[in-house]
Amino acid sequence: MRRILVTGALGQMGSELAPALRARHGVERVVASDLATSASRPQAAEGHYERLDCTRLEDIRSFMRRHDVGEIHHLVAVLSAVAESDPERAWRVNIETLHNVLIAAREFGARVFFPSSIAAFGPSTPRVDTPQVTVQRPTTMYGVTKVAGELLCDYYAAHFNVDVRGLRLPGLVSYVAQPGGGTTDYAVEMLRAAALGERYSCFLAPKTQLDMMYMPDAVAAIIQLMETDPARLKHRNAYNVTAMSVTPAELAAQIRQRAPHFVVDYRVDPLRQSIADSWPQSLDASAARRDWGFAPRFGLAAMTEDMLCRLGARVDESKGPRRHGGTADAERKITRSARGATCRAR
Ligand SMILES: NC(=O)c1ccc[n+]([C@@H]2O[C@H](COP(=O)([O-])OP(=O)(O)OC[C@H]3O[C@@H](n4cnc5c(N)ncnc54)[C@H](O)[C@@H]3O)[C@@H](O)[C@H]2O)c1
Repeated sequence: MRRILVTGALGQMGSELAPALRARHGVERVVASDLATSASRPQAAEGHYERLDCTRLEDIRSFMRRHDVGEIHHLVAVLSAVAESDPERAWRVNIETLHNVLIAAREFGARVFFPSSIAAFGPSTPRVDTPQVTVQRPTTMYGVTKVAGELLCDYYAAHFNVDVRGLRLPGLVSYVAQPGGGTTDYAVEMLRAAALGERYSCFLAPKTQLDMMYMPDAVAAIIQLMETDPARLKHRNAYNVTAMSVTPAELAAQIRQRAPHFVVDYRVDPLRQSIADSWPQSLDASAARRDWGFAPRFGLAAMTEDMLCRLGARVDESKGPRRHGGTADAERKITRSARGATCRAR
């Protein structure tokens, strides 16, 4: 059995995808990689890990040869807000590494997973029920690299028969690793603040509506897509997927159902607000449901409950909540609910 390479594996998605792939295919079959040396990142030790800089094609070739790689989950990217502060680097990292991976996949006969994003759409795209096939004229560098990436993947599939598949993912919410500088990071930040008993200043306006998905659903969708009979895939790059369409105010209201004293104020960051305002409010994921059975399990209420439960358990483990402005009463309520709850089974 050929091995599965996860690039950018120490990021928000890889921290959950690599363990899920190991659980499904066996620890020996998955090789995780990122820029850090294994010694500097403890989670790298949870299975086979090796440093790999994907801007270096020769290093990817050597890696593929040494580990007999037959499948690559290419998670390397500079995310939306960070990309706007250094667009040249974003292009280099997002496009050159993907191109290198596709070249190597072609040479070694490997399959590829590429995560695109709701950022591949722009202000001229229909914002509600955004169709699978529609206008894609993004105004951010991150979005430009995601559209170019989708097209590059399609090109390698059509011309060189590389089995490459992709998802247009919404904002991802997770508790294992911190988000890497995206526009939907507020959701994770807000849930973390609530679990710590702190108040939260949100960088998006209260009514900013965006698609979101809980990381376990994203990981399940990636695995399911890669296991689907290729004959069923009408859209390789990339399928719209989403689990909920929410605003910061709605998330705060959900949190307050479990932590009534949680306080949010709004200090809008003009850069991230303008990025959010250029993205869809709700994706149409019917093609993914129809073609390969996409079916997320977590809506807003279930995700909020699970996040608070798991984050609360971590707060308890690390000697209780920090005190940065959250009321002692609110902290007690959150830690009590975290201790009392059984986190939903995955
Ligand atoms: N997190 C989200 O909400 C979200 C939403 C939609 C799509 N995506 C996409 O999913 C993928 C993973 O996202 P993430 O949130 O885990 O990102 P992240 O920023 O948390 O992780 C990216 C990882 O890539 C690594 N990296 C950067 N340059 C590298 C290089 N040259 N070689 C090797 N590794 C390098 C970084 O060290 C980092 O660990 C990205 O393609 C992203 O665009 C993420």
